[in-house]
Amino acid sequence: MATRAAKAINIAVLGAGTVGSQVIRLIQERREDLQRRSGVLWNLTAVLVRDLDAERDYDVPANLLTTDIAEALVNADVVVELIGGIEPAFDYVKRALKAGACVVTGNKALLAKHGPELFALAAANQVELQYEAAVAGAVPIVRALRESLAGDRVNRVLGIVNGTTNFILDRMSTTGATYDESLQEAQALGYAEADPTADVDGLDAAAKCALMASLAFHSRVLIDDVSTEGIRAITPAQITRAREANMVVKLLAVAERRTTTSGEEGIDVRVHPALLPAGHPLASVSGAFNAIMLECEAAGELMFFGQGAGGVPTASAVLSDLVATAARHGHGQHPPLESHYEQLPVLPPQSTRVCYQVSLLVNAADAGLSEVVGEFAQHGISIQRASQKQVSIQCASQKQVPIQCASQNQVSDAQPAIPHLENAQVQSAERASVVLITNPATESDLREALDALRSSPTGVQVESVIRVEGVA
Ligand code: HSE
Repeated sequence: MATRAAKAINIAVLGAGTVGSQVIRLIQERREDLQRRSGVLWNLTAVLVRDLDAERDYDVPANLLTTDIAEALVNADVVVELIGGIEPAFDYVKRALKAGACVVTGNKALLAKHGPELFALAAANQVELQYEAAVAGAVPIVRALRESLAGDRVNRVLGIVNGTTNFILDRMSTTGATYDESLQEAQALGYAEADPTADVDGLDAAAKCALMASLAFHSRVLIDDVSTEGIRAITPAQITRAREANMVVKLLAVAERRTTTSGEEGIDVRVHPALLPAGHPLASVSGAFNAIMLECEAAGELMFFGQGAGGVPTASAVLSDLVATAARHGHGQHPPLESHYEQLPVLPPQSTRVCYQVSLLVNAADAGLSEVVGEFAQHGISIQRASQKQVSIQCASQKQVPIQCASQNQVSDAQPAIPHLENAQVQSAERASVVLITNPATESDLREALDALRSSPTGVQVESVIRVEGVA
């Protein structure tokens, strides 16, 4: 034991699942190192579990196990909350803070919903609330944003922060599997939950995006502020089109400073699938890995990469918070304060300007690239890249049209993907496939341009629309 260790901290762990069990195991196995690093003795005083008799693959004295939160909190100096979800975690964390315990949590959903109340409670009780494990598992992005970059100004955060969806998109891209097949594989490998909603609908990434934006911009950003779209609508056809354009599809979390046309400074926070050029640093992030790029005024570009999920990697982040908290607690030091002095407003997503890839089918005899480009120009949208190729389509009815249509909802467009074909008798036709990438445009301008093209007498069909990052 460290010779300078004069004090001890009592640690209660709430939840002994995938991450909690690894935290407990590592505390037992590495206690000597952890004590030396923090300069205090570590006493594991309670482990809150749901079932006292469940099988466990970690060593913990039976007398520490409890199902009673009140018992778990008795004499705890630091409470490690790894239950996840909102309740009962919210209640337990509040009780711990009010009782004067510091809290270390990996609960992004809780902080992205109730962070302001919990940080205020921690400040009022002069205790700390740490959450390195809540964003990107083992990747030390919370501490980097809050402490390493405390002297800089962060302008943009761009990340892949959900391993499950990255795995699914990667499998769709590398094996040609459908979304459903890839999701099943992710579930079989334990990446995706039986109910994959939080991952595939982008909610997990949105919570992480809110936490990163709060830190980066010294503002309070909650999950409901994040404009969020998931990956359920991504089709093999879109993956193929991405490959043809030398791009990949990724679920991205984006948080950036923006000044509006009226001079107001604010932030955009969004999670959505997007194309990335194959040479982009995030494009090669494969499988269930996470990566985050930061654009900072003084430091320039920084990139963080690593395992964003899993019991052992996430336990590493929890232990880093425990070491820091234990050291400060043991030596009467103050934690870094939650900083929200900038209070930048979250700008309406309708005013965000991004690039889009738009894939259209046009009647080759009547229309083509020039009509499409002209219509976009009418709506103030310029085109940075475009291609056109002839396709021959033989079909007797809409059902036989050999086109994968999807993602109209990626521009929040509730209209059918191919309105022209509804109830239509479609004959064999020479068609041209037009694929273009726009310069940054608002969603509403894009929607209006697409509506105008759809109602054109030349029979333009919108196959898919997807955002593009890294090309503007
Ligand atoms: N389910 C998350 C992911 C890990 O797949 O990245 C926990 O946030």
